[in-house]
Amino acid sequence: MPGITIGDTVPNLEVETTHGKFKLYDYFNNGWTIVFSHPADFTPVCTTELGKMAAYLPEFEKRGVKLLGFSCDDVQSHKEWIKDVEAYTPGCKVTYPIVADPSREIIKQLNMVDPNERDSSGNQLPSRALHIVGSDNKIKLSFLYPATTGRNMDEVLRAMDSLLKASKYKVATPANWKQGDPVVISPQVSNEEAKQVFPQGFETKNLPSGKEYLRLTNV
Ligand code: BEZ
Repeated sequence: MPGITIGDTVPNLEVETTHGKFKLYDYFNNGWTIVFSHPADFTPVCTTELGKMAAYLPEFEKRGVKLLGFSCDDVQSHKEWIKDVEAYTPGCKVTYPIVADPSREIIKQLNMVDPNERDSSGNQLPSRALHIVGSDNKIKLSFLYPATTGRNMDEVLRAMDSLLKASKYKVATPANWKQGDPVVISPQVSNEEAKQVFPQGFETKNLPSGKEYLRLTNV
């Protein structure tokens, strides 16, 4: 996908949202933020996604992570749409801001445009893009889904937990990892260093190659 991606700094754009106007860095406030776009207001899959994000908000907040939605309609439309979202997912409250971007200028700069989706007037629409932005305002992870595939918020939370783990320890998380499972020690860490930094110990898997690169620990 052309445009900003993993490792790039998010530009400090001024955005108009359901919570008023602000600059992105003021909202990020040197913390982790999940920014996620939706093709349009009052569309079925997006309505389910916004509600699920609201339902998961307490989990993100526990981890010190903020949410910021994007859709290309205006603020008034977003406010009307939120009523539908909250009715569809009972108990959820959309307390996170949603950016309005009728001109598509912001979604283009954030690389959230779907090359294939257009509205009835031929205007480009956002894809289901999601960037996890770190406390240094850089993108740490990006998902890009087409309009036809709603996102799995369990996976968003799982990926967030993996990023937080890897930001704290010199580890990576293996396939299908979930919170509480063993993690792998980064290949850059020697066994000597691993003994120091993981005093709880680690297990080196015995593999046919004889290479001792798959080392598991619990953090
Ligand atoms: C939806 O959110 O349901 C949707 C939006 C754009 C195209 C297709 C589906």
